[in-house]
Amino acid sequence: MSQLAEPRTMTAERPGGDALVSVRNLTKRFPITRGIIFQREIARVHAVEDVSFDIFPGETLGLVGESGSGKSTTARLITKLIDATSGSVVFDGQEITGYSRRQMRPLRREMQMIFQDPYSSLNPRQTVGQIIGSPYAIQGGERNVRRRVQELMNRVGLNPEHFNRYPHEFSGGQRQRIGVARALALSPKLIICDEPVSALDVSIQAQILNLLEGLQQDFNLTYLFISHDLSVVRHISDRIAVMYLGHVVEVGSAEELYENPKHPYTASLLSAVPQGTGGGHHRVVLAGDVPSPIDPPPGCVFHTRCPKARMVSGSPDEVPENCRTEFPPLGEVEPRHLAACWYPLKAGEELRQAAHR
Ligand SMILES: Nc1ncnc2c1ncn2[C@@H]1O[C@H](COP(=O)(O)OP(=O)(O)OP(=O)(O)O)[C@@H](O)[C@H]1O
Ligand SMILES: [Mg+2]
Repeated sequence: MSQLAEPRTMTAERPGGDALVSVRNLTKRFPITRGIIFQREIARVHAVEDVSFDIFPGETLGLVGESGSGKSTTARLITKLIDATSGSVVFDGQEITGYSRRQMRPLRREMQMIFQDPYSSLNPRQTVGQIIGSPYAIQGGERNVRRRVQELMNRVGLNPEHFNRYPHEFSGGQRQRIGVARALALSPKLIICDEPVSALDVSIQAQILNLLEGLQQDFNLTYLFISHDLSVVRHISDRIAVMYLGHVVEVGSAEELYENPKHPYTASLLSAVPQGTGGGHHRVVLAGDVPSPIDPPPGCVFHTRCPKARMVSGSPDEVPENCRTEFPPLGEVEPRHLAACWYPLKAGEELRQAAHR
């Protein structure tokens, strides 16, 4: 674990409400081993580091970050598809961190996932009716199952007559609708959408996003919506958490985060979004690549690329000492707007591009 203290202000995010999901100091390090008979650990991938956030009932929390920043690992930790190295997950009032498979079973139906590639997550040998209907099959009554499945198909915009067709007979967008219907069949409380529209054409993306929004109201759903694409999460999210190299570096309402980003990483991501924060801003290109999660930088993991740290030091080759040595706690910079940064951006402050070597 990093030296990060208990996050001070998580409850300040939305006072008064009980979270459906509370993630605290969640950490996952994947061991990398060598050797065939005697496996020895040679390194660890710091996939998720000391991540804390809440998801409140009925809201959509967007989780954004570049490829490899730890979004899917966070999702797999919440659903307990993998075990955490440390930290805790509370779901619907239950501390599930140490739950066994058997203890998780009744909760499995409460948390469903929708994936990027519906085709690989749908059994090609099952009809749509079987795929969507399998949760009902146990309850018996073939005709009832069929009626329920056809209602769901209708609700997600599929032709209920296509009950007996196979996944390959549908288009990409329709297959994602099958994935949505399957997730809904169990009446879950939480749906984790992991890049659900990334493989789809832009016009189809909007249809699926609209569908998800409509379903949220009808079925009282809570979403964790994962995407590397800021323009996708913006409209569907109530609040957004931004990840970089395993850390959550900023959390705020979608509007606040877009209009008034506090973390230099968020600001640089936004500067690359065409319809970003309105006129007048320029694109900030970060120096270098994302460092390896096997050997992440000390201090703030973003300091090696941070334009703000260079603005503070006044030199493209230097960053302030605290950025290099201590990870900043995720603290409240403005009401309900958290950032993990020693030098968060002020309202209207623009990042200047540092002239790098
Ligand atoms: N089973 C595993 N073993 C070792 N390393 C892993 C494993 N799963 C993920 N990782 C590593 O953990 C880091 C985070 O991966 P993760 O899949 O969570 O990222 P992501 O944000 O979902 O990325 P993407 O946008 O590409 O889906 C990456 O460096 C990845 O290579
Ligand atoms: Mg992923």
